[in-house]
Amino acid sequence: SRMVVAIDGPSGSGKSSVSRGVAARLGLRYLDTGAQYRAMTYWMLQNKIDIADPAAIAADAGAPAIESGTDPAAPAISVDGHDVAVAIREADVTGAVSAVAAVPEVRARLIALQRQIIGIGGIVVEGRDIASVVAPGAGAKIFLTASEDARAARRNTENGGGAGTVAATREALTRRDSVDNRTNALAAASGAMVVDATELTLEQVIDQVARIVIH
Ligand code: ADP
Ligand code: CDP
Repeated sequence: SRMVVAIDGPSGSGKSSVSRGVAARLGLRYLDTGAQYRAMTYWMLQNKIDIADPAAIAADAGAPAIESGTDPAAPAISVDGHDVAVAIREADVTGAVSAVAAVPEVRARLIALQRQIIGIGGIVVEGRDIASVVAPGAGAKIFLTASEDARAARRNTENGGGAGTVAATREALTRRDSVDNRTNALAAASGAMVVDATELTLEQVIDQVARIVIH
């Protein structure tokens, strides 16, 4: 199938787990565009680029060689030949990524790379601007969302935190959402189906999205 499935939504709504599940079930490839923005950010931090200086970020936006694997069973991401799958999830990258992703030169470079990977299709692509900018011709567009409470609780659990750290996780998530929302509206693109995962299990969300895709 040459189908392109676009899955956008805020942090912690379930994009990665749902996208991988849907791709595996339907025999499609998978692209995590957030991992590419994180990889770009990781390179900027490693190279001591001032994250508060958009011109400095822009000047080096072409420097890192970023490669993404597209197997939903084994997502892979490398920068200059080094596997960074674990490093890009660290708090320093998470704290800086929204500022890096706001720089137009970064977006232009990564969107071009994303369009190359998407190619003839057969892929589930997750991010913030997939349905609106990267692949407006996508055959299925999903805006995945969940309440702030649910997203914060899920992300906190994922990070190994207990009840005591939910508030801090929620605050970090809210702050990132608000910067991300200025770069790309965190709202359903035209033609997108909204799926609210607040009261659904991961399995139920995958079922619902797969049903939308094959319709
Ligand atoms: P995103 O890619 O949008 O940031 P993830 O797929 O990483 O979201 O999901 C965040 C966390 O929430 C993960 O730990 C995931 O296992 C969990 N999760 C995702 N969807 C659900 C759901 N419907 N119910 C419960 N937990 C979920
Ligand atoms: O998994 P989570 O939702 O927390 O974040 P992510 O999908 O890994 O994305 C990390 C960051 O990259 C986001 O907070 C955005 O700043 C940026 N991003 C973007 O600008 N455009 C995309 N298509 C995907 C991610």
